[in-house]
Amino acid sequence: MTDTDFLIIGSGIAGLSYAIKVAEDAPHHNILVVTKNDLNESNTKYAQGGIAVVTDYDKDSAQQHIKDTIIAGDGICDKEVVEIVVNEGLERLRELINWGAQFDKNNDGGFSLENEGGHSKHRVVHHKDMTGREIMRALRATAIKMTNIKILSFHTAIDLITINNNNSSSCHGVVVLDNLKREIKHIKAKQTILASGGAGQAYPFTTNPDIATGDGIAMAKRAGAKIEDMEFIQFHPTALYYPDKKPVFLISEAVRGFGAILRNKDGEAFMHRYDERKELASRDIVARAIHSELNKNDTNHVYLDCTHLDNEKFRHHFPSIHTKCIEIGINTAHDMIPVAPAAHYVCGGIKVNQDGLSSIANLYAIGECSRTGLHGANRLASNSLLEAVVFAHRTYLHTTRTMKDTIAQNHSFNLTHYKIETINDTLTQSLQRQLQEVMIHSVGIVRSTTGLTNAQEEINKLEQKFNALISSEVTSTELITLRNLFTIAQLIIQHSLNRKINKGGYYNVDLL
Ligand code: FAD
Ligand code: SIN
Repeated sequence: MTDTDFLIIGSGIAGLSYAIKVAEDAPHHNILVVTKNDLNESNTKYAQGGIAVVTDYDKDSAQQHIKDTIIAGDGICDKEVVEIVVNEGLERLRELINWGAQFDKNNDGGFSLENEGGHSKHRVVHHKDMTGREIMRALRATAIKMTNIKILSFHTAIDLITINNNNSSSCHGVVVLDNLKREIKHIKAKQTILASGGAGQAYPFTTNPDIATGDGIAMAKRAGAKIEDMEFIQFHPTALYYPDKKPVFLISEAVRGFGAILRNKDGEAFMHRYDERKELASRDIVARAIHSELNKNDTNHVYLDCTHLDNEKFRHHFPSIHTKCIEIGINTAHDMIPVAPAAHYVCGGIKVNQDGLSSIANLYAIGECSRTGLHGANRLASNSLLEAVVFAHRTYLHTTRTMKDTIAQNHSFNLTHYKIETINDTLTQSLQRQLQEVMIHSVGIVRSTTGLTNAQEEINKLEQKFNALISSEVTSTELITLRNLFTIAQLIIQHSLNRKINKGGYYNVDLL
């Protein structure tokens, strides 16, 4: 049993920026970051477009950013939370810069601002098309210098340690698997912060790396925390269609902000038929339009046409996209890029209040695993990195202010004893593939009530097969992940079935 003051699960932008803040503020406290891969691997690392922040008050305003966020969220965002996030964004951006992150500037010294779908102004601050990589570089360099931050890489959190008392629960740490030594560790903590990211791996075609299996959301669900809005899975309209390459490479929305045009298999620009904002409509609308074109034409991709753009400027703005295209034989000066929608972001998650606190005492959630109310039914592009830093800050303020000696005695924990076993890989991989197929077939961009009900039955059957493989205390990294994906799939389906009106990214043909 290890003891710590602040325990953070996840080392993306949310987890590391929280850890750095606490470490700077409270050098006498112990901070432990547990992360299941190396420190760098995260959704954050792959972020391209940037962070939406109002920096140019002559041309833009907080009011406008608030309005755009609420329109993209189809009217069901929590307005107070939207105001908080937009208003606190600039201060948090300055902190990232103080920690060493560099963002592109214009000749006049102001930020170079990109445009993306749903934004009425250019307001996306970025580092070329590698914003996430740059942020992770700066956060990692800062965190590893701090002597009171300890990092446990290649450790997978399995379950929360909770105590239930008269209908209320409190969290006192986490059980983790040391992936390399194959040992179980119990970590007791005064405050536990889930910063474990998204769940794109519930789908076969996703922009998310392998780590995105919804572990934090599933752990919180098992512990009895409130989970909301899981039906709102965001599909990014333009992932590079290049089958069998994982994770799927993103073609940033900023490319459409730069003037690229979507064309169907006949070369026809089609977005004007779906929304007057055309390529820059919000993500749910563009993804659905592409879905409809794919069905109509019985194809598996459309094209993003950049051939009319200034290729020198394109290369300058989007060097990694340009390189990727060249690698696979596409010269953006002459060739159109094949693209298709891919599972990208989970708008729902662990329900938290404005301090990042979940419905379980001492348990917080920040970043993509949380549901703050900012995104409503569809996240506005580049609002995710913003939400992560704003809520990391608010959670830091609350956890340091309220931290008490809440670690209970050992004997009051009901600790499960896990046995580590390797299970037949082929079997777990096959179950995961089958789960993903059910999800994309019936729980994708366009859903139906019958499809959802069938999907629920199929997922139940697959989960029963999975449960028959193992007893509850047997574990391995593959089993932890697959168990969590089943929980995530069940949540997405159940929340979809609960929804009676289509909103944003949720579209059920039986509700039209
Ligand atoms: P992550 O960065 O995903 O970090 C999660 C961490 O938790 C990882 O370290 C992971 O290893 C760890 N973890 C997970 N489970 C466990 C476990 N069981 N035990 C221990 N550790 C665990 N958003 C924007 O705002 N702008 C963009 O331009 C943008 N571009 C994107 C491009 C791509 C390709 C993708 C995939 C996403 C993009 N997003 C963008 C979304 C954004 O990147 C993510 O929502 C955000 O980075 C999430 O940050 P996070 O810290 O919450 O989670
Ligand atoms: C992108 O660059 O298109 C991704 C932006 C986001 O997910 O917010």
